[in-house]
Amino acid sequence: MGGLKGRDLLSLADLSIEEMQELLHLAAQMKAGKANPRCEKVLGLLFYKASTRTRVSFSVAMYQLGGQVLDLNISSIQVSRGEPIADTARVLDRYLDVLAIRTYLQQDLETFANYAKIPVINALSDLEHPCQVLADLLTVQEVFGTLKGITLTYVGDGNNVAHSLLLGCALVGMHVRIAAPPEYQPAAVVVNQARAIAGDRTEVLVTTDPLVAVKDSQVLYTDVWASMGQEDLAASRIPVFQPYQINETLLANADGQAIVLHCLPAHRGEEITDAVIEGAQSRVWDQAENRLHAQKALLASVLG
Ligand code: CP
Ligand code: NVA
Repeated sequence: MGGLKGRDLLSLADLSIEEMQELLHLAAQMKAGKANPRCEKVLGLLFYKASTRTRVSFSVAMYQLGGQVLDLNISSIQVSRGEPIADTARVLDRYLDVLAIRTYLQQDLETFANYAKIPVINALSDLEHPCQVLADLLTVQEVFGTLKGITLTYVGDGNNVAHSLLLGCALVGMHVRIAAPPEYQPAAVVVNQARAIAGDRTEVLVTTDPLVAVKDSQVLYTDVWASMGQEDLAASRIPVFQPYQINETLLANADGQAIVLHCLPAHRGEEITDAVIEGAQSRVWDQAENRLHAQKALLASVLG
């Protein structure tokens, strides 16, 4: 297996179809205890935003691989006092073996990656959440035994998670649909990237109509209506997004065997109802667990 030794993962578009398949295969093998790579390396976590799943799953993944984790607290390192990212990156590069960063601007991730020779992993930016979608695809594969030809419909804000789903689904041969209010559609540049990856193999549909979008879908997916950094806009968005709630009515319009995913944290009563997230079709806890397995495979792969 070629692996991703030394590589950055800033966007799912950084992966080829084969690399994505290899990564998901490795994650499934590791989860089943059939592969047990070891690496005594040090992972740095640099998070400018809150995190439960990503922080803990990256840490546990690294411990299980035999490595160590340094949680770099933003407020106690010199970036918080204005030290340039380019300088911080070149110094961290001399101490660490891999760096996972959660931040606002994709440009800042690119600066880190340009100045640090070690692998830099996007642990969420305003543009993308690639590690989340690795776990999502692993979950879909476990449920349906395949990814090819499965239709995933994301209903809600055309945000970072929607962007990575567009790219990830297109890469693995899934059909992907996004239903979002007119002012909250995914970025055209990402939609075009996904369409270029999908070619004429699979559907990439962006619409404002959730009922049309979910028809015959095997996976329904949603995320918060206001992401981290948009807290001030949360209240004003509620009426705009109300028709995009995943509730029992919307779910009844999907395929009868459809599963429901949510990257979490969820706002019950907003983007998803309590009945749906706690219901028989929800797979959100398996999905959250898969963050660990997918990122363990990713770390093993970039660390060689
Ligand atoms: N889904 C996700 O990334 O969760 P955290 O924000 O808790 O890391
Ligand atoms: N779109 C959300 C995802 C959180 C995991 C955010 O960026 O806050």
